[in-house]
Amino acid sequence: MSHSTTMQSEPQTIRREIPTLPSPHLLGWLGEFRNDPLAVMLRAQQAGDVVRMRLGPRHVYFVNHPAYIQHILQDHHRNFSKDTRVMQLLKYASGENIFTGEGEFWLQRRRLMQPMFHRKIIESFGDVMTQTANEMLAEWQTAPKNQPLRMDQEMTRVTLKIVGRALFSVDLTGETRTLGEMFARANDDLIYRIQHPFYPPPFVPTPRNRRANVARRTTQQIILRLIRERMASGENKNDLLSLLMSMRDEETGEGLSEQELYRETLVMLFAGHETTSNALTWAWYYLSQNPQTESTLHAELAAVLHGRAPIMQDVPQLVYTRRVLDETMRLAPPAWIMSRLSLCDETLGEYALPARAPVVLSPYSMHRHPRYWKNPAAFDPERFAPENLGKQPRFVYMPFGGGPRLCIGQPFALAEATLLLAAIAQRYTLRLVPNTRVEDAPMITLRVKNGLPMQLTRR
Ligand code: HEM
Repeated sequence: MSHSTTMQSEPQTIRREIPTLPSPHLLGWLGEFRNDPLAVMLRAQQAGDVVRMRLGPRHVYFVNHPAYIQHILQDHHRNFSKDTRVMQLLKYASGENIFTGEGEFWLQRRRLMQPMFHRKIIESFGDVMTQTANEMLAEWQTAPKNQPLRMDQEMTRVTLKIVGRALFSVDLTGETRTLGEMFARANDDLIYRIQHPFYPPPFVPTPRNRRANVARRTTQQIILRLIRERMASGENKNDLLSLLMSMRDEETGEGLSEQELYRETLVMLFAGHETTSNALTWAWYYLSQNPQTESTLHAELAAVLHGRAPIMQDVPQLVYTRRVLDETMRLAPPAWIMSRLSLCDETLGEYALPARAPVVLSPYSMHRHPRYWKNPAAFDPERFAPENLGKQPRFVYMPFGGGPRLCIGQPFALAEATLLLAAIAQRYTLRLVPNTRVEDAPMITLRVKNGLPMQLTRR
């Protein structure tokens, strides 16, 4: 891998050591990080643009300055790898794929799959998205009256169905509950391991490891079945699976093996629904707490749709709906943490970052940085109105990451979430079930702890 040396070839620059945020504990901030990682992120953000904190056996560098983030994710991305401890655990769970892979391997996969996320192709998924939304709404209509719905589960099911139908031409209706549950378990297991670095490795048969292994096997069975069915039929369905099956090694001419297809399918099914469903779940929460925003949203839906169900062509007009989503992902970014490893000595502004340093970038803490956001804890979609956009540096808002590893699914997610938010808000008003405590659960993605039960009223 080639290393950029631009920053290192400036001999006059005085490089300061990155300050350490002290902790009285032997394991540093690990205890706090286990209990409340989001609070640790904010603590790091308050401490400075880049700070070093001990997390158990290692020192971790928390970066909270947009120029430094741009340096890491974009300008000098070659000097940083994704090969962190978190990624090693993700690799254990999902193998090498477009999300976990690096270098030439990653580039090939990204190039192969990119056309599937082209604007025209995303637009062609409009029917699948609206049809799946309508099926969900029809189901709700026949549900017993006054029975609350777990919006987190409903959003998981609908987004999983959509990604299955759009990218893999399969109907996962029968499997969405199981898959949703298994993904949630894998999510829980992974975060537990990150927080407990000394926990026995997955092959040791502890009750937790056994549960996680069952989840892994169950998911594998479902996904392998869909791959095998396609292989047996030999059909080209012009979807992501067919695209992956068409890939050939330039030298050997060989296609991807069943296991390789499995790894890409797994990561696409997971990344393709988990994040979007969390964003939507949080949007229902914020809307229920902000009636003024809700009525502005309702007014837009009435003005744009005139009572008919939304379709893909409406998305560009649903500007306020989109602002609600943008603001939701500011306060509750589904990908609340990103991590990298420096491959060589690096410089962040005036600071020297050593080689092999684990670096944490947090959309959560950047999105709440008081230097860049007025009244950062307040929910206010108007922050994303055209007159307020463009005033901030890039990378202050980064729900989809940035640089070459920018989320490939961004246009898919935004179109889907806008359509779903519009289709549901047009028909229902959602309120929290009384006495529900809503807390963050920072897993791989930012979930709502214990789910989000809501009462739906027809509008
Ligand atoms: C609201 C929804 C979503 C959010 C907030 C989100 C967020 C992100 C972020 C922050 C990254 C970069 C991670 C890093 O650099 O460490 C990422 C990467 C990725 N996302 Fe998403 N994502 C969303 C939806 C989707 C969807 C719908 C798909 C697929 C259909 C998807 C597939 C991927 C893949 C494959 C990568 C890895 C890309 C690469 O490394 O080349 N995501 N996502």
